[in-house]
Amino acid sequence: MLKNKDNHIIEPLFSRDLIEKRVSEVAKQIAADFKGKKVLIIAVLNGSFIFCADLIRKLGGSFEVDFISLSSYSNMTSDGKVKLLSNFNQDLKDKNILIVEDIADTGNTLKFLCNLIEESNVKSISRCVLLDKRAARKTEVKIEYSCFNIEDNFVVGYGLDFNGLYRGLPYIGVLKIK
Ligand code: IMP
Ligand code: MG
Repeated sequence: MLKNKDNHIIEPLFSRDLIEKRVSEVAKQIAADFKGKKVLIIAVLNGSFIFCADLIRKLGGSFEVDFISLSSYSNMTSDGKVKLLSNFNQDLKDKNILIVEDIADTGNTLKFLCNLIEESNVKSISRCVLLDKRAARKTEVKIEYSCFNIEDNFVVGYGLDFNGLYRGLPYIGVLKIK
């Protein structure tokens, strides 16, 4: 349990070891499903940078990666409007795309990104999330790969932040402000 001067309490949820184990399992599944196919991973910044870095190193050298920067959150709530902060710089036509996202919450971000990618006549789109917060979903979105299901709590660590803080924690914890 971590408590700091802002009265932020972080209750550990998934340890570094458990995250490592699940990321390896999901990577194996992805590698098997896409065997022999060329895949471009599109990682959603900022939250997925640590997850994606770990995942891609377990997938080996044949997966390409590019980044998109989207934002929909301020403080602890998603305002529903997804903003495109910076876009990928390549033609996606005829590619197998794997979106890598930190967390599916309302589902708005994934939906927005899928719609954007579909405009490019891609060969396929699949979605991989570190965390799936099903109870918070407002838009239905298909998720093929997920490391953990979580309840409707605000979590930080392993890339996920609260107003920019806590991305560097090696574990994932529930943030409570007391
Ligand atoms: P959605 O569009 O509501 O699904 O939200 C997706 C984005 O909101 C994620 O990519 C995260 O960046 C952020 N987010 C949602 N829930 C949490 C959370 O519990 N902790 C930190 N960020 C979150
Ligand atoms: Mg995100």
